[in-house]
Amino acid sequence: MVNTDSLLEFAKHIANQAGVMMSDARDSNRFSEDYKADHELVTSTDLAIDHYLCQQIAIAYPDHQILSEESSPDLSLSDAPVWVIDPIDGTVNFAHGHKHVAISIGLYVEGQRLLGVVNAPFLQECYWAVKGQGAYLNGKRLHVADKVALRNALVATGFPYQKNALDKLIKRVSNVLSQCQDIRRNGSAALDLCWVASGRLQAYYESVKPWDMAAGALIAAEAGAQVGRYDVVSSTWPLAINGDSLLVCRPSLYDQLVQVLCVD
Ligand code: IPD
Ligand code: CA
Ligand code: CA
Repeated sequence: MVNTDSLLEFAKHIANQAGVMMSDARDSNRFSEDYKADHELVTSTDLAIDHYLCQQIAIAYPDHQILSEESSPDLSLSDAPVWVIDPIDGTVNFAHGHKHVAISIGLYVEGQRLLGVVNAPFLQECYWAVKGQGAYLNGKRLHVADKVALRNALVATGFPYQKNALDKLIKRVSNVLSQCQDIRRNGSAALDLCWVASGRLQAYYESVKPWDMAAGALIAAEAGAQVGRYDVVSSTWPLAINGDSLLVCRPSLYDQLVQVLCVD
C-alpha cells in the first residue's frame, strides 16, 4: 500500500529546499551559463538542483527510478515508481532575472500520475496534488476557471528551443489570437499548467517533455481541467507522462480548442 501522505511531504520538502537553492543562487548572482544540444541554455543551478533532488530521492526511495531532465533524460522505465523531475522549469526566465520559474516534481506509478509538486520560489507559490485528493496552492484548494466563452479565454503556450519548423506553430498562434481573448508565453510549462488549475488561464497547449508536464498535468486535472491532445503523439513515453501535443483546459473549451489548434 503506497503511503501518499509521506510521499507528498517528502516531495514538498525537497521542492522547498530546491527553491532556497534557486533563490540563493540568483540573489548572489552565483551561477554560470552553458548550452546543451548547441542552443539550449542550462545553468550551473539547473545542475546543482538536479543533483540535490536525485540524491535525496535515491536516499529516501532507493528502489524508485528517476527521470530527470539534466541527469537521466533517456531513462528506460521498469515497473518501479518513477520520479519525473525538472530542476528548473523556466531556465531562460531564471537567467534573465524573471520570476516565472519553478521546480517540478512528479511521481508516476503503474501507468498513472500519482502526485505532483510545482514550487515557484520567486512567486512564493507552491502547488501540489495527489491523485483523487484535489489540487492546492499554498494549502488553498484550486478549481479551474468558471465558465468562460472561447472568445474570452486567455490561452498560454510555449515555443521550442529548436526554431527550424515554425510554420504550424505560427498558424496555431494566429488561430488562437483571432478566436480567443489573448495569448501568453510565460516561460514555464509547469507553471502554465498550475495557472490553468488556479483559473488564471483557461487553457495551455504545447509539445513538451515528460519533466515539463508530469506534475503540472496532475495538478490541473485535480483542479477539474481536461488533459488531452490537439495533435498526434509521436514519442514513446507512456501517455501519462507524454507531453506531445498537450492541451489542458476547462472541459467546456476542449472540443473547440482542438478545432482551433487543428492546422492540417
Ligand atoms: C521550458 C519551459 C518553457 C517551454 C519549453 C520548455 P526549461 O523548460 O517550460 O515554458 O515553452 O518548451 O522546454 O527548458 O526552462 O526547463
Ligand atoms: Ca522544462
Ligand atoms: Ca529545465
